[in-house]
Amino acid sequence: MLILGIESSCDETAAAVVEDGRKKLSDVVASQVEEHKLYGGVVPEIASRRHAEAISGVVRRALDEADVSLAQIGAVAVTHAPGLIGALLVGVNFAKGLAFSTGLPLVPTHHLRSHIAANYLAHPDLKPPFLCLVVSGGHTHLVRVEDYTRFTLIGRTRDDAAGECFDKAARAMGLPYPGGIHLDRLARDGDPAAFAFPRPHVEGSEWDFSFSGLKTAVINRLHQAEQKGETLPLPDLAASFQYTVAGILCDHTLRAAQATGSDTVVLAGGVSANSGLRALMEERCKKLGLALYMPPLSLCGDNGAMVAAQGYYEYRSGNIAGLELNAAPTLPIEYR
Ligand code: KG4
Ligand code: ZN
Repeated sequence: MLILGIESSCDETAAAVVEDGRKKLSDVVASQVEEHKLYGGVVPEIASRRHAEAISGVVRRALDEADVSLAQIGAVAVTHAPGLIGALLVGVNFAKGLAFSTGLPLVPTHHLRSHIAANYLAHPDLKPPFLCLVVSGGHTHLVRVEDYTRFTLIGRTRDDAAGECFDKAARAMGLPYPGGIHLDRLARDGDPAAFAFPRPHVEGSEWDFSFSGLKTAVINRLHQAEQKGETLPLPDLAASFQYTVAGILCDHTLRAAQATGSDTVVLAGGVSANSGLRALMEERCKKLGLALYMPPLSLCGDNGAMVAAQGYYEYRSGNIAGLELNAAPTLPIEYR
C-alpha cells in the first residue's frame, strides 16, 4: 500500500511516498531555515506563510519523483500534532482538501511517532518492542515502543529539550541558527574533558531529564570570560558541552533499557544526528550487548517519509480521521 505523507509542523514543508511503511519511493523537503536564520529562530507567522506557498509544489514533486499518480495512493497521512499551530494547520488543511477531493482515507500522525518510524525506513529488521530515545528541538522523551501504535512514556525533560539546549548553547557561542549542527562541527576539534559541566538530576524521577541548568552553566561560563576579557577555546567548550549532553542522554537511556528489560535501543529526532551522541551510544550499547538502531543522517530531521511510514501503521490500526480533523500544538505520544 502506498501512503502519501505530509509534514509541516515546524520549518520544513515535506512530502513523500512510502510503500508498506518501509520503502521510500520519494522524499521531498523544502526547508525554510535560511529565512528563519535571519531572526535567530523560527518565526511562526513566516513559517505558516512559507508552508502555504510551498505545499502544493512539494506534494506534486513527491508524487512525480515516486512516479505515481494520486489514483495509486492508498491513504494521505499528515502530521496533526505536536508543533506550531499555524504551521500544522497548513498541512492538515491541505491533506483534508486532498482527502475530500479524492475520497482517500485521512490518517492523522503524531510528529514524534513519525520520528521513531524514520528507523523503519532504514532498518527492515527493526520491529517493536524496543526502547527509544526521542531527541528533537522541542522534545526529549524516553519511550517504550510496545507496538507500532502503542507507546509508554517513561521519561521526559522537565524543562528544555536537548535540541533547544544545543541551540541556545550554540547561540551563546556565536554560532548561526539552528546551532546544533554547527556546535557538533565545532566540537570535532575540541577536548571533551576541558570543561566540567553539571549533570542535573531530577529529584524523585529516575529517567526524567533537565537541561536548563546545563544551558545556563555554558552561558554563565561565556559571560564570566567576557567580563574578565578572556577568550575561551570554543572547540573545547563545544566538545565538553556535547560530551556532557551525550553522557546524560546515554546514562538515562541505558539505565532505562536495563530496568525495563529492553535489549534494543533506538534513537530518533533531529538531535540523533549528533556525532558525539551517536558515537557514545554505539560504544556503550556494544559494551552492554544491546542492539542499537539509529536513523541515517538524511532521516534524522523533519521529513515526509517518516510521516508516511508511521501513517501506514496508524492506518492499519484503524486511526482514520474525518474532515473535522484539527491540528494540536501539544499531544501526548500515548494519545490513543
Ligand atoms: O527533530 P527536529 O528536526 O525538529 C523538531 O521536531 O524539533 O530537531 C531539530 C533539532 C534542532 O534543535 C537542531 O539544532 C537539532 O535538532 N540538531 C542537532 C544536530 N542536528 C540537528 N543537534 C545536535 N547535533 C546535531 N548534529
Ligand atoms: Zn521533528
